[in-house]
Amino acid sequence: MGFRNANTVIEVRNYSFKYASSDKETLHDVNLKFHEREITILVGPTGCGKSTLLKSLIGLIPHMYAGSWSGSVIIDGVSIQDRKINDLALTVGYVFQNPENQIFMFSVERDAAFGLENLGIERAQIRERVDWAMSLMGITDLATKPPHELSDGQKQRAALAGILAMKPRVLILDEPTSLLDPHTALELIQLIRNLRDQLGITVIMVEHRLDLIARVADRLLVMENGTIVEDGKPREVFGKNSPSLRNIGIPTITRLYQALNSSRPTGNVPLTVDEVVDLIRQKQRTVSA
Ligand SMILES: Nc1ncnc2c1ncn2[C@@H]1O[C@H](COP(=O)(O)OP(=O)(O)O)[C@@H](O)[C@H]1O
Ligand SMILES: [Mg+2]
Repeated sequence: MGFRNANTVIEVRNYSFKYASSDKETLHDVNLKFHEREITILVGPTGCGKSTLLKSLIGLIPHMYAGSWSGSVIIDGVSIQDRKINDLALTVGYVFQNPENQIFMFSVERDAAFGLENLGIERAQIRERVDWAMSLMGITDLATKPPHELSDGQKQRAALAGILAMKPRVLILDEPTSLLDPHTALELIQLIRNLRDQLGITVIMVEHRLDLIARVADRLLVMENGTIVEDGKPREVFGKNSPSLRNIGIPTITRLYQALNSSRPTGNVPLTVDEVVDLIRQKQRTVSA
């Protein structure tokens, strides 16, 4: 993948933000470029500003929250502050941490149509897009179900279908697996990877389950006190052994590898059981040769 050369979809430039009710800045001088087709994971301790950054990428901040900012967030060459939030919804889709915040009407299909109806899209096209999105999410058979009859995993898929029906180029998710059991969480993560592979969608998400997500992520950002302190491929970031990693959940298998290789704690590290097995086999071959 043309990691560094890929097209920039969102650029955050010297961006700081302070909530009106707060006496200090929540984000300070953040500089980031998000690239087309990349899956970026944002991690960091509670309260460090992750959700505030995501809200700033979709224009909820500053459009819906009182506060002051400096610098800019630029999408397709235009500063977010200068765009209408409805226009932004066609480029950037946002899935709330709690799907209850997103689903508020009568049935899966009507909820999925809501965003498009708001934009005044033609009925036939809404029907087509909603059917497409529900089928992509594997929830066509749930179309007429009311939200309260859905499991958490189904709600999460329904919320995603509503967002995907808008055909955004960027999908932003705030802790999408926090309500899901490990199996459903893994399914969702695979689904997200398929969306990137099949639709070329750019994904930016806050996600703590690094055991599951690190292997599908192209990039890992670590945030602390409103600034980005690490930025790179997950195996490079984990391999740095920097103090900021103590607060995040490095995959168990990566830690095992590091513990067994304490003489070489840095560099590229494995992320999955399969990768560690390969490394051990290679080592065995070298020893027996
Ligand atoms: N609407 C708000 N008004 C005032 N302060 C807020 C608001 N939302 C979040 N904050 C504060 O901003 C800081 C960062 O919050 P948040 O972005 O939610 O962090 P994270 O998602 O990393 O847990 C916290 O100190 C939080 O209390
Ligand atoms: Mg948050």
